[in-house]
Amino acid sequence: MSLKGKNVISIEDFSREEINEILSVSEKMISHIKSGTSICKGKILATLFFEPSTRTRMSFESAMLRLDGNVVGFADAKATSVKKGEILTDTIRMAAAYSDIITVRHPSEGAARVSANASNVPVINAGDGGHQHPTQTLLDLFTITKEMGKIDGLKIGLFGDLKYGRTVHSLAHALSLFDNVKIYCISPEQLRMPKYVLKSLAEKNILVTEENKIEKIIPELDVVYATRIQKERFGSEKEYLDVKSSTIIDKKVMSLAKKEMILMHPLPRVDEISYEIDSDPRAAYFKQAAYGVPTRMALIALVLGLIK
Ligand code: NCD
Repeated sequence: MSLKGKNVISIEDFSREEINEILSVSEKMISHIKSGTSICKGKILATLFFEPSTRTRMSFESAMLRLDGNVVGFADAKATSVKKGEILTDTIRMAAAYSDIITVRHPSEGAARVSANASNVPVINAGDGGHQHPTQTLLDLFTITKEMGKIDGLKIGLFGDLKYGRTVHSLAHALSLFDNVKIYCISPEQLRMPKYVLKSLAEKNILVTEENKIEKIIPELDVVYATRIQKERFGSEKEYLDVKSSTIIDKKVMSLAKKEMILMHPLPRVDEISYEIDSDPRAAYFKQAAYGVPTRMALIALVLGLIK
């Protein structure tokens, strides 16, 4: 099994064996974070972000710098020739000429696949519209493994905007590769998990339950994965306002949860998790964001074929 040269477009392109390999290399990368390593010396990562990002872009860049590689790219396409009307595939062709590996975030579903087709270096999807966010899923799986010791057999609640949230689409697919995982989709009616995701989970015999109220189900859960309402993907302001102030996870809600449960969130949070929860030992979201660095170090090194 080798991930060398692989495009990372959808989490569905990975087997459980490949995911396990990335997670075990991520664990090894933790020891290289402070001391650094020269695994990627002389290599260049291009970060092309056509949509806002804090954690994903910075952790990709930090990961490449920790590996002794270099980074080129942009955080705002308005400062590039896109502003002059350049099409995505031309931008990608150029980035491929200037780098060894490309990570791209774009508001359109399918943009990562289109980018990979235009590139002669590997492309990593850093989020394509409301579709997928596979590298977030890798760090989410790494976080669950680190905090809970396993993924098999867990009861996992996906909470919030399951319709437009790309992180939960990728995560749900990945969880279906593990044994006896039960998924609880907790959202208002308007923001339910898309049918195509539910169908694919059903095909893999994954037990999925849909819930409206987190209070009802949280006592049973091992992991709650909260998400932000994806305001920018709504058709209208009214559609957003109708669902905006649904449940907030606060001390009262957390008092119903198990002592060993973990609360995750890809961040940024807006008002889904009350700030008073940050000091609760079950709040795992900042650790989760930090795990983005070793996970992305592992992925970059494996895709570049620089480690076995
Ligand atoms: C998420 C994203 O961009 O999809 N954030 C992230 O990458 N950490 C979630 C979000 O924007 O709500």
